[in-house]
Amino acid sequence: MYRTIENGNISEKLVGQNVRIIGWVAKKRDLGGLTFVDLRDRSGIVQVLINEDVARPDIRNEYIIQVEGTVTLKEVPNLNLKTGKVEVVARKVTLINKAKNPPLIIADETDALEDVRLKYRYLDLRRKVLQEKIITRAKVTKVTREFLDSEGFIEIETPILTKSTPGGARDYLVPSRLNPGTFYALAQSPQIYKQLLMIGGFEKYYQIARCFRDEDLRSDRQPDFTQIDIETSFFTYEELLELNERLLQKILKEIKNYDLKLPLPRLTYHQAIAMYGTDKPDLRFDLKIKDLHQALASEDYFKAKEAVRGLVINDPTNILSRKTLDELNLIVKQHGLNYLGVLKFDGTTFSGSLAKNITSDHLKVAKTLSLKANDVLLLGFDAPLTRILSALGAIRNQLGVRFSLINENEFSALWVDSFPLFSYDPETKRFASEHHPFTQPKAADIPKLDTAPEEVLSYAYDIVINGYEAGGGSMRIYDQDLQNRIFEILGLSEQEIDYLFGFFIEALKYGTPPHGGIAFGLDRLVMILTGTDDIRDVIAFPKNLKGTSLMSGEPSRATNLQLDELCIKINIGKEGGEE
Ligand code: AMO
Repeated sequence: MYRTIENGNISEKLVGQNVRIIGWVAKKRDLGGLTFVDLRDRSGIVQVLINEDVARPDIRNEYIIQVEGTVTLKEVPNLNLKTGKVEVVARKVTLINKAKNPPLIIADETDALEDVRLKYRYLDLRRKVLQEKIITRAKVTKVTREFLDSEGFIEIETPILTKSTPGGARDYLVPSRLNPGTFYALAQSPQIYKQLLMIGGFEKYYQIARCFRDEDLRSDRQPDFTQIDIETSFFTYEELLELNERLLQKILKEIKNYDLKLPLPRLTYHQAIAMYGTDKPDLRFDLKIKDLHQALASEDYFKAKEAVRGLVINDPTNILSRKTLDELNLIVKQHGLNYLGVLKFDGTTFSGSLAKNITSDHLKVAKTLSLKANDVLLLGFDAPLTRILSALGAIRNQLGVRFSLINENEFSALWVDSFPLFSYDPETKRFASEHHPFTQPKAADIPKLDTAPEEVLSYAYDIVINGYEAGGGSMRIYDQDLQNRIFEILGLSEQEIDYLFGFFIEALKYGTPPHGGIAFGLDRLVMILTGTDDIRDVIAFPKNLKGTSLMSGEPSRATNLQLDELCIKINIGKEGGEE
């Protein structure tokens, strides 16, 4: 046996007992003839004391040693360690393996650069803070499986090598050697397959599904990521949302011992945008964007504007200093708003960049706006309303952080639903699916498909937690004519529909049950549960923002032999400096 007990489980209950333990040397100190070693395994760290008379090998950081010894009470307990009341006094110390001097400090706090951590990810993973997140991830999938299993769901795998279809993100293409000149696409999600499983009669499907999307990366996006993917037949809209609420409630209870109150609040997409400037509002704090056009109509300057929206915040300690306001102005510019107007009210008069535009009695204007002393108005105008709202939505998030309005221990979840079915690009004059082309339009809006597709709302919903889109889904179209019509509106010709989706339209003809589903982003969910804002912290082997693995070096070149077999010729062009 390598060990009789794990290091983190050694406690004062075992005082006097002999143990055999093994692990990595986290720290070593020599004091006179005594050597103290912090020995780490997955369960934790325990201190080992090697007395002068005990033979010992050369011991350095990250060497693996095995120790046989006696659990003993320490004279001075170390309160920072779970095992801090005891130590193992060694009788025999065996070197199991040596280690190179590690290029990063393996402790919760490490000053290693991000790139070094990613290059030596296997060492970074030895840090407890990171291990705990990966372990939480495993628990989330376990709880999910248990819950869905108890609800009668069947876990089914679907292909990863799939057919490339338009819409959504860019595909990762995989050349087929056996069919030269043709390509698979790595699955962006199991969407079509899970719908086919409903046609196949499974009624309740789920999968912890790997998904692949070639899109611009952000701190909450990876090129390969994982979904908790769910599809149901014969569930009403309400039943489906209720099931998912209970799943989320169960996960929060089991993982965080947090009681999520159900039913979750709901906002329509348009309500969310109007009140919070985003379709993923963080409701841990209650600050809403206000329509202030009317209230400021006594002033010619504002009356002339098309729209005036604003946020009001009480700021007695002058958090919104000139420097902070400059920073906020940079943020609104990124959202296409030129300028964030400021009115500060001290109880009597206004100051701030817009004060000169208040020509009537200040007290009166303040009363119309229901302001109290030290209230600050941050105003957006002179831009299309969508930009004003999105800029103020970003400012709202900033205020949440800068005014410490967010309770970090809270999980605030809500549904955002009734999304528009399509978005319209005036430049290309084309419609695109807001969710995906299989989403059911609201029944009452179906006539508008012919007259005003941009106004059609859908049975699509996102689940938003603490300002993140943690999941999204919809009720699906189960009528082949309606499905065909949607493809037409998306600009696909009859031939294209047939080539790309013919098999699916055909399948819909064979008694398709009413169905709907959802996919949670597993990585995002675990990010939220573990309180990190970097998705890489919850993925064992993540890629950087360029989609590169700094550890193993992918993407990498293929050999000429590989390319020849695939009938592929590389033509990077002048910029790449290749043929
Ligand atoms: P959607 O595209 O909204 O829906 O994806 C569902 C959830 O997956 C997560 N997600 C990502 N997480 C990390 N990195 C990414 N690149 C990434 N892209 C998406 C998000 C998102 O809410 N098939 C539909 C679901 C359905 O209709 O049932 C789908 O994939 O948390």
